Amino acid sequence: MAMLYLLSLCAAAASPALAWSPGWNGWGSQSWDWNHHCSNPNTGPTTTSPATCSATRTTAYSQFSYTVLTTTRYATAIPSPLQLTTTYAPPFSQVSSLLPPSPTYTTYSLDRNATSVQDGRYGQGAYARLWAPLSYNTSIPFTTTVSPTPVASSELVYPPALYTACPQQADTCVDCYKLPKDFIWGVAGSAFQIEGGLTEDGRGPSQLDLFGSLPNTADEANAVVADMNYWLYKQDIARLAAVGMPYYSFSISWTRVVPFGEAGSPINTAALEHYDDLINTCIEYGIKPIVTLSHNDSPLNVTFQNPAFPDAFLYYAKHVMTRYSDRVSAWVTLNEPNINFGSDYYAVPNILLGHAKVYHWYKETLKGTGQVTIKFANNLATPLDSSNPDDTRAALRYQDYILGIIGNPIFLGQQYPAEVLNTKGINLTALTDEELSYINGTSDFWSFDPYTAGFATSPPNGIDACAQNTSDPLWPTCVVNTNVQQDGWLNGQGSFAYAYLAPQYVRQQLGYVWNVFRPSGVLIAEYGFNPFMENAKTLVAQQYDLERTLYYEAFLRETLKSIYEDGVNVIGALAWSFVDNDEFTSYYQQYGLQHVNRTDGRLTRSYKRSIFDYVDLFHRYVEN
Ligand SMILES: *[C@@H]1O[C@H](CO)[C@@H](O)[C@H](O)[C@H]1NC(C)=O
Ligand SMILES: *[C@@H]1O[C@H](CO)[C@@H](O)[C@H](O)[C@H]1NC(C)=O
Ligand SMILES: *[C@@H]1O[C@H](CO)[C@@H](O)[C@H](O)[C@H]1NC(C)=O
Ligand SMILES: *[C@@H]1O[C@H](CO)[C@@H](O)[C@H](O)[C@H]1NC(C)=O
Ligand SMILES: *[C@@H]1O[C@H](CO)[C@@H](O)[C@H](O)[C@H]1NC(C)=O
Ligand SMILES: *[C@@H]1O[C@H](CO)[C@@H](O)[C@H](O)[C@H]1NC(C)=O
Ligand SMILES: *[C@@H]1O[C@H](CO)[C@@H](O)[C@H](O)[C@H]1NC(C)=O
Repeated sequence: MAMLYLLSLCAAAASPALAWSPGWNGWGSQSWDWNHHCSNPNTGPTTTSPATCSATRTTAYSQFSYTVLTTTRYATAIPSPLQLTTTYAPPFSQVSSLLPPSPTYTTYSLDRNATSVQDGRYGQGAYARLWAPLSYNTSIPFTTTVSPTPVASSELVYPPALYTACPQQADTCVDCYKLPKDFIWGVAGSAFQIEGGLTEDGRGPSQLDLFGSLPNTADEANAVVADMNYWLYKQDIARLAAVGMPYYSFSISWTRVVPFGEAGSPINTAALEHYDDLINTCIEYGIKPIVTLSHNDSPLNVTFQNPAFPDAFLYYAKHVMTRYSDRVSAWVTLNEPNINFGSDYYAVPNILLGHAKVYHWYKETLKGTGQVTIKFANNLATPLDSSNPDDTRAALRYQDYILGIIGNPIFLGQQYPAEVLNTKGINLTALTDEELSYINGTSDFWSFDPYTAGFATSPPNGIDACAQNTSDPLWPTCVVNTNVQQDGWLNGQGSFAYAYLAPQYVRQQLGYVWNVFRPSGVLIAEYGFNPFMENAKTLVAQQYDLERTLYYEAFLRETLKSIYEDGVNVIGALAWSFVDNDEFTSYYQQYGLQHVNRTDGRLTRSYKRSIFDYVDLFHRYVEN
């Protein structure tokens, strides 16, 4: 226990300190100078003078008595409603004329027997045919929006305090660092992963709907149910407010709003009302919404590869941004497009143009004053052997592929990286000067999902041979990735997927994007940890998710060092995820700060300890 706590306290900088510490004398009193523990993560703690580490020991008997260790402390709700001191765009009544002329407003109802009905391009028959490729063999447990009820005080009792083996205030290396009052902190989620009701209320099929559709046996995931958030959103927001969460980042389902996905196609009024109420519910409860336009859920037949993508995306964006922008301070156009086009590199310009068109329209036509960004996936690659130039090239090449290809044009107005363009058979044409100047600067800050970091090394036959050989299994990136260090150790505690608890790399994760892309600020738009086999534990054991707390604590403390010691302007951090969800065919890959009961018919949520610790953590560091 003590050991675990100490890991949490100084994990990133000096968790090995204990083993090396001459002053450590076990459970009782000690006078180790904690200031010296948070030193260079690569060299371990600086040795302190023996004087500060000495302790005198005496043995003595006294009258034994119990100490009460539980205190009943309750979560404090966020103040409500949210006081919007400004609007971020004119209200809909003033900007409705900016919408494309006379779209059809409707709400389809799916009749799977109607596939042969010929009643026009956007008729019932066409809607049924849209869904024909996708079927599911479970059904949703209810179809009415659940009214929010106040969260019972019994649910808001804080977990046992983390054991303080050494005084908190002694860890002055980061405790004197503060986050600004306007620091964006809270939680994130995405439509497909939580909503359920894929075929309900006139929604159209998205590419994500292929996950969990039949035939599917993987982890019994069924996207039709997910977390039923489409009907439980009010309660979900009430639960976040009750524990004091100030920001909620969610995504709108593109195909709920535009079932056919295409520019000019019908708009679903039920979806417009749903998301309007979702945003209003956030405000009612005091929570600031951050909205993503598309979280991997492009319409089934409007892929990034499709040249119709940019205009279809803009069409959809106009319909939601005209309606909601007055209340939304920050928009994310696309989630992680940098890892979502397979090896179809020719899709990249469609992504860039779709994003840029929305950015320009929001700023120049709608005259929105909020912020617009695009969100990158990135698990930083560092050289496996930093003394080997090939490994350094491999790491940088990996970053070029995963970040530079979209980051260069948007943040620097620069061409795709040479490493990418010089790869044989990449099917990517250099952007024209005209395209570059249109795309340049179309993001108000950098946002990314830096879950973890790993190593890169060059392939046995070398990068260049691979880059010229389209049959090489490592083509086109031609980089070998690993989490095992050269000395055989993993770089951190493994999760149930690819993430490692490796906070020692957080400063480099942030430092890379800050120094290479020079944004005005960096948002950690997702970060989280899914402990190994969490789902196999009893509910109370799942709720006591110490590993997740350690992840967030260590990550945030390194972020503070990045801000204060490296000069990086980190503007926010959003935990993935506010609830266990559908991690693309798996309900067992649990990243949630809340548990979901999947068998009680009501999808009941339970707080895990990490949600309380997460709030505490920010209260400790964010200026009042
Ligand atoms: C669809 O067709 C099947 C088979 O003919 C029938 O059993 C079912 O009731 C029909 N469904 C609707 C909604 O009409
Ligand atoms: C759904 O179908 C899969 C096979 O594709 C099967 O494993 C699963 O048990 C089915 N679920 C239900 C509820 O019928
Ligand atoms: C999308 O699907 C509909 C219905 O099948 C079809 O009419 C339309 O042409 C498709 N659009 C694209 C861009 O493929
Ligand atoms: C190469 O890109 C073009 C679009 O620029 C696309 O039409 C073509 O299908 C792509 N070729 C391959 C082999 O992917
Ligand atoms: C990109 O924008 C920056 C800032 O406005 C400007 O300095 C730079 O010249 C632009 N580059 C291109 C290629 O348009
Ligand atoms: C290209 O890679 C394939 C698959 O590894 C290999 O069989 C082939 O020999 C390589 N070609 C060259 C020219 O190296
Ligand atoms: C889910 O709820 C059911 C019914 O209340 C209960 O029997 C079951 O133990 C719960 N499961 C978990 C993991 O809490």
